[in-house]
Amino acid sequence: MKTVIGYMTKTKHSETIAKAVAQAVGLEAVNMENKPTMYGVDLLILVSGIYAKQSMPELLEYARTWKSANFQKVALITSSSSAEQRPKLLLQILKEKYIEIVGECRVKGNFLLISRGHPNEKDINTAIEFAQKVIAENDTVE
Ligand SMILES: Cc1cc2nc3c(=O)[nH]c(=O)nc-3n(C[C@H](O)[C@H](O)[C@H](O)COP(=O)(O)O)c2cc1C
Repeated sequence: MKTVIGYMTKTKHSETIAKAVAQAVGLEAVNMENKPTMYGVDLLILVSGIYAKQSMPELLEYARTWKSANFQKVALITSSSSAEQRPKLLLQILKEKYIEIVGECRVKGNFLLISRGHPNEKDINTAIEFAQKVIAENDTVE
């Protein structure tokens, strides 16, 4: 199974989380700002944040170019200062493209004084455990 750990970030939390997850599962973290080709990817674990209640516009723009024909499944690790926010537009784009969303994990980031100190070690471990579970559950390709 080809798994990619991708991230897009404004303030580096997603990069930190993605690199920790990638190291834990023996992969490299890929910066999605470089728009890597997603051909032949079975599972994308995508780490990103929330800004003014939405995903980065650059991430949404890139997601609009994805196709279910060359891209199978996605699991989302989203950090936000409230840890409640879902990447609604991103989820909508994935659904419209029939790309299967196999899991969502939300962890705390921080903004100004809200949730200072996050993401912390516990948040990062939550993301790692989520990624390991998703990979184990979806690793059906020999
Ligand atoms: C400009 C800006 C806007 C933000 N807007 C929100 C928001 O609307 N809701 C929220 O819960 N968190 C918000 N946050 C917090 C981020 O989602 C959080 O810190 C996240 O971890 C950032 O990820 P990144 O460091 O990978 O960019 C915002 C952060 C920034 C810098």
